[in-house]
Amino acid sequence: MTQHDPAATLRFAVFGHPVAHSLSPQIHAAFARELSIALEYTAIDATAETFPDALARFAAAGGAGANVTLPLKQQAAALCGSLGDGARRSGAVNTLVRSNGGWHGENTDGRGLVRDLTERHGLDLRQRRTLLIGAGGAARGVAPALLEAGIGDLFVVNRTPERADALADTLGEPARVHPRYLADLASLGEFDLIVHATSATRDAALPALPMSLVGTRAAAVDVNYGEVAIPFLAWARAAGARDAIDGLGMLVEQAAESFRLWHGRRPATDEVYAGLRERYAALVTAD
Ligand code: ATR
Repeated sequence: MTQHDPAATLRFAVFGHPVAHSLSPQIHAAFARELSIALEYTAIDATAETFPDALARFAAAGGAGANVTLPLKQQAAALCGSLGDGARRSGAVNTLVRSNGGWHGENTDGRGLVRDLTERHGLDLRQRRTLLIGAGGAARGVAPALLEAGIGDLFVVNRTPERADALADTLGEPARVHPRYLADLASLGEFDLIVHATSATRDAALPALPMSLVGTRAAAVDVNYGEVAIPFLAWARAAGARDAIDGLGMLVEQAAESFRLWHGRRPATDEVYAGLRERYAALVTAD
């Protein structure tokens, strides 16, 4: 078998809506080149209505693994025959691995975020008093790994308070995890880590955030990257955050974790990150 034998080419895809601008196909292609693995990785547009059928077609066509992005991460968890710990704890899946004729679900977002923050940006997350803004798929994906990384108390706020309550319940650490109302933010004091994980800035405004949230050593992190991350990072800078970090590094690191699950080897990420960072250089506000 050679690298160019079509029969040897493993098929992967990212499902989401919208998905056309996803960077995952080029990230995985770069990892595959680095490790000399033959694979095809495409972007498949799917809504909540079309996702189950599209995934079944992909499996029937030999799909070996997939990533799942907005707005399908929670739905993906429900379609899996088995779940890894992080995925079970978050109720959200971003990585599907073909297994026993079905799908095994994992969530690599949180591990990717923690790796980016601790190794690329050199942050010590331990004991950081943390605010998580959002309680959808993205927030669910990162919360368990933040807790595992040793943060202090985790406050969760969300436009729909019931979803913040549900996330706190799922995380199952009532002494450390506290759902709060978005409207009560001004009374919550200062934070050392603030993670923005809503999709609000895709088509609407950032929720109103008081500058009093930002502590003197605070790191502000947006799980989004590109233009969608600008409003939150601009707010964080204006409020005096020591670090303001977008989700580009997390994107590359979660991809590397998915790649490891599929291929058994973790690619080096610095070159891919540097290449993407050049394209998003205007948006860099970290360090
Ligand atoms: P994702 O995978 O990006 O998290 P999601 O599961 O649809 O996508 O969740 C979107 C998140 O962004 C939710 O926290 C959502 O709040 P609701 O639970 O109240 O819907 C939040 N969000 C989206 N638009 C928003 C807006 N205009 N203002 C505030 N929060 C918003």
